[in-house]
Amino acid sequence: MRLLFARDLHTLSDTSALAAEVALSLGPGSLLLLEGDLGAGKTTFVQALARALGITRAVTSPTFVLANTYPIPSGGHLVHFDLYRLASPEGLYDLGFTEALEAGDRLAVEWPERARRVLDAEAPVRYRLCLTRLGDTDRRAEFYLEERP
Ligand SMILES: Nc1ncnc2c1ncn2[C@@H]1O[C@H](COP(=O)(O)OP(=O)(O)O)[C@@H](O)[C@H]1O
Ligand SMILES: [Mg+2]
Repeated sequence: MRLLFARDLHTLSDTSALAAEVALSLGPGSLLLLEGDLGAGKTTFVQALARALGITRAVTSPTFVLANTYPIPSGGHLVHFDLYRLASPEGLYDLGFTEALEAGDRLAVEWPERARRVLDAEAPVRYRLCLTRLGDTDRRAEFYLEERP
């Protein structure tokens, strides 16, 4: 796991600026794992990421549907997963994860630990963003590139 950068965010607009930078790293067929407690800002980050990718549709938390797909104007899709309620790691296959990755979509996954063994098998190379709540609008962000053996 290689730390690409760590940064303190003080406002929502810092989070948006970070999302715009991460959007540049996130090429077609890439995967971003989002780590952090409830309320850390994972969904908020994906909303900003979507805007940075030119998506104008409102991005809502896929808490119950587990996955939402948004077309990106320049091509492909952003697929936003929230695996908190995933019953078993293999359930990720039913959400079209592998097909989306192979099609060159960009995937953002909240609660990736719920599907760790499937994610490790299907997507050994991925980015990881860890968000930690420090205060009302203060967050610590750590951005990693990781490769599973
Ligand atoms: N700098 C910030 N970055 C992200 N979210 C923030 C920030 N400051 C305040 N918030 C608020 O914190 C909450 C984060 O909620 P959410 O994104 O749903 O978290 P998660 O998906 O990690 O559970 C939102 O109400 C958001 O407006
Ligand atoms: Mg969320």
